[in-house]
Amino acid sequence: MKALAEKLKIYQDTYYKEGKSLVSDQEYDRLTDRLIALEKEFPDYAAPDSPTHRVGSDLTNDFPEVTHSIPVLSLDKAYDRESVLDFFSRSIDKEGGALSFAAEEKIDGISMVLYYEDGLLVRAVTRGNGSVGNDVTPNIMTITSIPLSLPESLDIAVRGEVYLPKKEFEKVNATLPEDERAANPRNLAAGTVRRQKSQDAARIPLDMYCYEGFWLDKDQTPKDHLHILKKLSDLGFRINPDFAFFASSRKEAEEKMKDAGLPGRAYGFSELQSYLDEMTEKRPQLDHEIDGLVFKINELDVREKFGYTEHHPRWAIAYKFESPQAESILEAITVQVGRTGRITPVAEISPVALGGSTIRRATLHNQEYINSLELAIGDKVSITKRGDVIPAVEEVVEKNEVGNTTYSIPLKCPCCNSPLVHKGVHLFCPNYDCPDQAKGRLSFFASRDQMDIESLGPKTVELLWNNGILSRVEDIYTADYSKALEMKIPGIGEKTVEALKRSVEESKDRSYRTVLASLGIPDVGKKTAQILSEGGFDSLEKLIVAAAAGRLEPFLGIKGLGEETAKTIIEAFSDPNLLKTVHALSSLGLHVSEDMDRKDEANLPQTFSGEVWCVTGSFENFNPRQKALAEIEKRGGRTVSSVTGKTTHLLAGKGGGSKRADAEKLGVRIITEDEFLSLLGWNKSEKSGDNPVQLELF
Ligand code: IVH
Repeated sequence: MKALAEKLKIYQDTYYKEGKSLVSDQEYDRLTDRLIALEKEFPDYAAPDSPTHRVGSDLTNDFPEVTHSIPVLSLDKAYDRESVLDFFSRSIDKEGGALSFAAEEKIDGISMVLYYEDGLLVRAVTRGNGSVGNDVTPNIMTITSIPLSLPESLDIAVRGEVYLPKKEFEKVNATLPEDERAANPRNLAAGTVRRQKSQDAARIPLDMYCYEGFWLDKDQTPKDHLHILKKLSDLGFRINPDFAFFASSRKEAEEKMKDAGLPGRAYGFSELQSYLDEMTEKRPQLDHEIDGLVFKINELDVREKFGYTEHHPRWAIAYKFESPQAESILEAITVQVGRTGRITPVAEISPVALGGSTIRRATLHNQEYINSLELAIGDKVSITKRGDVIPAVEEVVEKNEVGNTTYSIPLKCPCCNSPLVHKGVHLFCPNYDCPDQAKGRLSFFASRDQMDIESLGPKTVELLWNNGILSRVEDIYTADYSKALEMKIPGIGEKTVEALKRSVEESKDRSYRTVLASLGIPDVGKKTAQILSEGGFDSLEKLIVAAAAGRLEPFLGIKGLGEETAKTIIEAFSDPNLLKTVHALSSLGLHVSEDMDRKDEANLPQTFSGEVWCVTGSFENFNPRQKALAEIEKRGGRTVSSVTGKTTHLLAGKGGGSKRADAEKLGVRIITEDEFLSLLGWNKSEKSGDNPVQLELF
């Protein structure tokens, strides 16, 4: 076991530090598997710093609460440059003598404390409330740049920030199932740190920068912050190379850095402005997100003298970048249920003006996000607009004074009261008949990007659902919409009912891929529907049969289809609720296969054959106009873009211009929208009763 561990450690180090593989991936995996197996069989002989920790395990973590042996404080904040200058001069005045300051990036990640005993990493703990945090050691051990053992047998605590580099975030996030995608790198890092299985955490390439060290034996403590960082670096910790140092003159700063042997940029106090300019400019190009800069007094004896408040040290300050932000109070957190049952917490804040609009609400994504902010009702929070558009709660500026603790999403569905279940980082309502889910599915199915049932927007869905006219997706095609008139539902008049009947009927022609994407299966949007169809799953029947077999292989053979999506599809098509809908839609004549798309095209009576149509103006039922052209072509007609002697018909909508005049001149037949509808067999009177196709279906 020792020999294996040593070998693997060398392979890992060379790979991590030099980017070189000393052995093939297969050989590496074989040795790792062997060591894992031996460690399982002989746990007493497993080394605490075994290289197998890097690949994680499939055991379920429970993140016990542990008490920090150092106070894990936060930082006082400065929102403008003057306050930073003020911090410098106030500190120097108070000390009454020379001081120097470290200036570091404020990494936007997850605060972490690494505890080493006798040189071995024994615990990695989140900040928590500053005195009690969660033990997340197995997940943190998968971060390759964190030493599992030190070259010296030291008892130390090391503080730093666990983060996900921007590039890695983009890459990884895109491969995650839609449900698990994170809003930003910090959120994904927070979720990863709390993954149930360290094996899963190992797949997300987290990293860590360390910025503070605490020695149990005070005598061993290096003499100042510069020497602490240098020592941490020598011990194998990753220190942010973007380090700056301020003293009364640049020369003095340079000398101090040289004495410590720490690389970085040296500045005199008078250069603070240009340093801030430089960093503001550099920020977007950094490979990680930072939300500010941290200035810290270098001298440890002065740190001790200045001491701490309950919340932050008096010897440091965080300068936050000046992006438009506002402060407000978190009044409440409401919980929404999506069509897939997914629960989303939403911050309700006192209305506040920001960047030209009034902000009242902001999504909080999931419990992880709330945890990463340690957000409680009544807290004063800062709000920004991410990407200048989406309102986001950035952080807690001031804790509430009534003692509210970090908000926990109630584990009951806010709509139907069902106990919620965890899936990945999200909570779900498992009740398929939950009213919010049912309405969400209906609205989604009918929405413009899906089946495009024009008159069936969320408001109409709500009214029809509340009055028992619609409940499941398939009801859309069998519901008696006239009942809405009899019931005198406010907001649903004769016109709406007519339009509903027409647009519902029309939607029956949507393609197989559109039907598949409209079912609202997580991860199965238009793109995946296309991939599935081209990959051989060209009917819902085939999907159902494959799902019943429960094997991933037939799906994994399809290029562009990930394992997570494959699992989701199998799960979805094994769900009796979805199967019921699919069978119903199938017997109602919707396109449940590519075959039906083709037949439908071929079966239409070629009533326009030999005709040449031109289309002008705008239409109530064909928007965009291309929809009218498609109907003509499906029935064997040809379409042209200008009226000539060969044109046989001009379909003229509202506002048609010169084409109408041309048609009149040439004696071309001009067809109104109503006439066109009856030529298509979509005439209103036929719709409401005596269309034979309709009778057969209903
Ligand atoms: S020093 C006692 N340095 O910012 C001093 N913190 O808003 C402790 N942070 O909880 C903090 N980069 O998680 C320090 N270079 C840096 C930092 C940093 C990010 C985080 C840290 C802290 C939070 C305060």
